[in-house]
Amino acid sequence: MISGSDEPGIELSQQLEQLWLESTRGNIMNKSILHALAQQALTDSIYPSPLFPPSPYYRFLKRLSEHLQPRVSVVLGVCGGGCCLHLALGNPQGRVVGVDFAYDHDEQIKHIYKACPNFIFWHGDSVFDVGQIVSDFGQPQIVFVDTTHTYHQTMTEFNTWRDYLADNWIMCFDDLFRPGMEQAWNELPEPKVRLDALHTGAEEGGGFGVVWQG
Ligand SMILES: C[S@@+](CC[C@H](N)C(=O)[O-])C[C@H]1O[C@@H](n2cnc3c(N)ncnc32)[C@H](O)[C@@H]1O
Repeated sequence: MISGSDEPGIELSQQLEQLWLESTRGNIMNKSILHALAQQALTDSIYPSPLFPPSPYYRFLKRLSEHLQPRVSVVLGVCGGGCCLHLALGNPQGRVVGVDFAYDHDEQIKHIYKACPNFIFWHGDSVFDVGQIVSDFGQPQIVFVDTTHTYHQTMTEFNTWRDYLADNWIMCFDDLFRPGMEQAWNELPEPKVRLDALHTGAEEGGGFGVVWQG
């Protein structure tokens, strides 16, 4: 739902954008759709719990999930789980599998399980477990790569998961300003778009990009 505005002109243009976005449901992804979803995410209200940081890219993932309605989404690197929560809220009919080899945010994970019955925490490795995860849950349409933010791990995760994706897939990457990540981004194939406004971050972190099936 679009949040209200005191300015009637702004509210009308937001409603028109929402109508246009709805008319593109089921289309192959493109830059205009991604920019429009990112724009909405920047003005969406934040999730009302101090357990999760108010990151705009979380809200983008929620919008993306609402838009694509994927049967399965996967997050590589759960940590406090904000990404999983938002993907799960965006599409309650689809499953969200969060993969992490550490379980160190018990309160957050329990909160997500309670709020989102479609969430599954997978205690394991982002690369080695791919076959088992896909065999148990199916091919994901959205994958968010959010583990070590190093060149080698990022490329390994991309090259591993790309063979297991559903049609019209999307992979998201963050912390692209970290050392090695610009190289990773440059080597990822087209089509792709940077949406850095979604993650302004600290000096070392920040940066957000999306790659999708051409
Ligand atoms: C930046 S945090 C993830 C943040 C999270 N996506 C969020 O929404 O807040 C990175 C996480 O990746 C996990 N991780 C790093 N390498 C991994 C690997 N090879 N397999 C699974 N998890 C990994 C770490 O344990 C850590 O919890």
